[in-house]
Amino acid sequence: MLKLDRRQFLSTASAFAMLPASTSLAASASVELNALVADIQLLPEGYGPTSIWGFDGTAPGPEIRLAQGSRLQRRLVNSLPEPTSIHWHGVRIDNAMDGVSGLTQNAVPSGETFEYDFVVRDAGTYWYHAHNKSFEQVARGLSGALIIEEPDEVDVDREEVLILDDWLLDPDTAQIVGDFAAPHAMSHGGRIGNYITTNSVYNLALDARQNERLRLRLINASNARIFPLRLDGLQGWTVALDGMPLVKPLPITDTIVLGPAQRIDLIVDVVASEGETAHVVHLGQGDAFSQVAFEVRAGGAVKRRGVPSPLPPNALSMVDLGKARAMSLTMEGGAMGGLRSATLGGDSKSIGEIVDAGRFWAFNGAADGMDGPAFAELSQGEHVRIAIANDTVFPHAMHLHGMHFYEIGNDGNLGALRDTTLIERGDTREIAFVADNPGKWLLHCHMLSHAASGMSTWIDVA
Ligand code: C2O
Ligand code: CU
Repeated sequence: MLKLDRRQFLSTASAFAMLPASTSLAASASVELNALVADIQLLPEGYGPTSIWGFDGTAPGPEIRLAQGSRLQRRLVNSLPEPTSIHWHGVRIDNAMDGVSGLTQNAVPSGETFEYDFVVRDAGTYWYHAHNKSFEQVARGLSGALIIEEPDEVDVDREEVLILDDWLLDPDTAQIVGDFAAPHAMSHGGRIGNYITTNSVYNLALDARQNERLRLRLINASNARIFPLRLDGLQGWTVALDGMPLVKPLPITDTIVLGPAQRIDLIVDVVASEGETAHVVHLGQGDAFSQVAFEVRAGGAVKRRGVPSPLPPNALSMVDLGKARAMSLTMEGGAMGGLRSATLGGDSKSIGEIVDAGRFWAFNGAADGMDGPAFAELSQGEHVRIAIANDTVFPHAMHLHGMHFYEIGNDGNLGALRDTTLIERGDTREIAFVADNPGKWLLHCHMLSHAASGMSTWIDVA
């Protein structure tokens, strides 16, 4: 555990708000994204710097902000000691640009480059991250925000991109704990950090005005942490999930749960009074923690505004559940999961042999991960529904590349569009989508240690 307790961290919060890591709003003019080993001051003053791997040497990496319909062009320069690649999470993308090393491209060796070049069709809050040994490279800091702007300005006073993360740090050295493939993290809830940050700042503090209307773009970039959040002194609506606008802004009345890789866009009004502090409170681990504080300064507006308009929808195909092909995917394994055997390379193996191969989980009885055959061969334009059953004692955040899907509600109707769905232990979630994007698309748990130890597969759309 860290030497500083929460109270001491809280007292240094305002100094933290000055760090440059929190002010990456300007779009990067560079056409390069250089994956670098760098030192950043992650812990408070008095602690040494932390050596991270970051795009352009920062964590989060530079914010990429583009207009809907424009072209994203970035040359990945790999200055790391090992191969890497970049995945553009949530983007409906050309398959060749999806950045999955071993499936859509070869990992880019040290010292080499790769040109990413694609059109961004949908507006929304997305992110990019390393996709080679993600369980290690993302934990070292290789991620950043990707913001695609709607054609018309949204009626808010300002917006904040808030990247929630956690870091597993050794408090004596300030360094990232290096056992990324620790069997315990892989077989349990994943790699959970001991230092929670927003935009790499602990207890991030920002200024606000009373009745100011903010758009908050929350991104969970952690390896495995689920963030349960409550608003305090802020009132408003959820307007988008995983980048995709809700048909109607949904008033926030309850805890907001953000699983790994998920995003949520909120439009909130500052209802705390001048001199007070509003908070995005993190309810994790039984201890209320100020994830983000808004210190309310003088000069606010007298009146609150009315209900915001919905964000303009992105043009996605609607699923016809009546004609959708039904499939099922059962997740098994992990600690206390009772998995006795699974197949690897088509052969039945005992749990001991599976574990020796570095696997702890299985999808439909196979522990091959990305090395196995496709979970489904789909024809382009096919309508599909997949019932994903979580037969383990841990929650999992299942992510499909290349296409958003609808979560099917308990009423059997299409619910929100997402690219990552959080499935609690024992639950089954059905998802549905039109397989309209050709290529090989990964389907995996975004608890990255799980993805690396059996919880990955892929679908082929041709
Ligand atoms: Cu965000 Cu396969 O990843
Ligand atoms: Cu998982």
